[in-house]
Amino acid sequence: MFKGCEDEIKALARLSTLVNSTLNLMEVLDNAMKYVEELMDAEASSIFEVDYERDELFFRLARGKGGSRARKIRLSMGEGIAGWVAREGKPLLVADVYQDKRFSARMDKYSGFKTRSIIGVPIKHKGRLIGVLEVLNKRGGPFEEEDLELLTVVGNQIGIAMENARLYQRLQEKFTLTAEELKKTQQKLIQSERLGALARLSQGVAHEVRNPVMSIGGFARRLKQQLSPGDSAHKYVEIILKELARLEKMVQDVENYANMREPEFREVNLEKLIEHALEEWRQSWASPDIQVHLDLPGEEITFPGDERLLSLVLKNLFRNAREAMTGGGELSIAAYPQGRQIIIKVADTGIGIPPEDLPQVFDPFFTSNPQGSGLGLTTVHRIVSEHHGEISVKSTVGEGTEIRIRLPLYPDDLHLSELEGPPI
Ligand SMILES: Nc1ncnc2c1ncn2[C@@H]1O[C@H](COP(=O)(O)OP(=O)(O)O)[C@@H](O)[C@H]1O
Ligand SMILES: [Mg+2]
Repeated sequence: MFKGCEDEIKALARLSTLVNSTLNLMEVLDNAMKYVEELMDAEASSIFEVDYERDELFFRLARGKGGSRARKIRLSMGEGIAGWVAREGKPLLVADVYQDKRFSARMDKYSGFKTRSIIGVPIKHKGRLIGVLEVLNKRGGPFEEEDLELLTVVGNQIGIAMENARLYQRLQEKFTLTAEELKKTQQKLIQSERLGALARLSQGVAHEVRNPVMSIGGFARRLKQQLSPGDSAHKYVEIILKELARLEKMVQDVENYANMREPEFREVNLEKLIEHALEEWRQSWASPDIQVHLDLPGEEITFPGDERLLSLVLKNLFRNAREAMTGGGELSIAAYPQGRQIIIKVADTGIGIPPEDLPQVFDPFFTSNPQGSGLGLTTVHRIVSEHHGEISVKSTVGEGTEIRIRLPLYPDDLHLSELEGPPI
């Protein structure tokens, strides 16, 4: 018997406050069932949820002795009292489970709990079955119709809670995704901001350095001419001139980088782009100990881009690959469309990049090459970004490096109108 109608109303009111005040499903369910057990003076209770993919019931909650063990069991539809309630979609009161063939003792065997009586109701939301609610072993006497009525009301509330929690979870997942995307975009922005600031700084430095470098060079060459042939100072002047040449090249590279123009988008033929770049590179860099594999799509593919800048990208990558394979090796170039993008892969079998260097390879002036300026991949990154593309590196020391570039295949994806600013 209930402790009174007032208690019942109070309990239900608390229940609905709980449902609305917290969206943590387990907390809601556990608290709800605790009240129900108290109200009915019962020993245990369970909430099952339907797994529609496997056509089974699994525990959302199992309160009472052996509950944690019982939770591991799954019921097939129709199995046991809960399975019957789920299949029929109707409430059920079983005063003595041993008099009812629908009862399955499997759960008791596993959990150590001894079931005597059960009431079960379906949990539905908008007519769809989501689970089953069960209360077990009323202490004071057998379950009554009133208990079943109360449980039906509770079942409806719990249906709402479960549905809210599901929606909330979906919302949260979406939110997490959006937050992640935002973070990525922010990181990209920081990266290009950083590159932009560095470019401006180095342009300034290069400009200041250029004149003194030129005059040091001029004086060093004059000094060399004035030295007598056997003078030991010759070797020092040679070193000065060699280092100056490096400095001049660096200044030149920085100025080239800083003065690089923005892309002018035209229709680019993928195959021609790669073949031309390869041909140009071959003229200055080819060596017989490097084998080139080219894997291009059979069909003609065009996409929006600036052919000269993209050719610079490829030549930089080929050059790095060459420098990484001083003992010879294979350069593999592949290109193909994938969805709304074009993928270009440049892979070598060179020395590879140590994992600690990987995050820095696109940074200006990062280089492991005594003759390098460390601006090659910085340039590549900038051109790819300006083409609204992405670039990534995979590398294993001693095995090789693969650079992968993604570029938009369709002009629509360039969002050119956004770049051009609002209409006047
Ligand atoms: N294919 C590659 N294999 C191994 N290391 C590479 C490769 N490409 C780039 N790197 C590493 O990244 C550094 C930066 O490359 P880059 O920006 O082109 O500058 P640079 O070629 O002037 O050194 C290189 O010095 C090298 O350490
Ligand atoms: Mg380079």
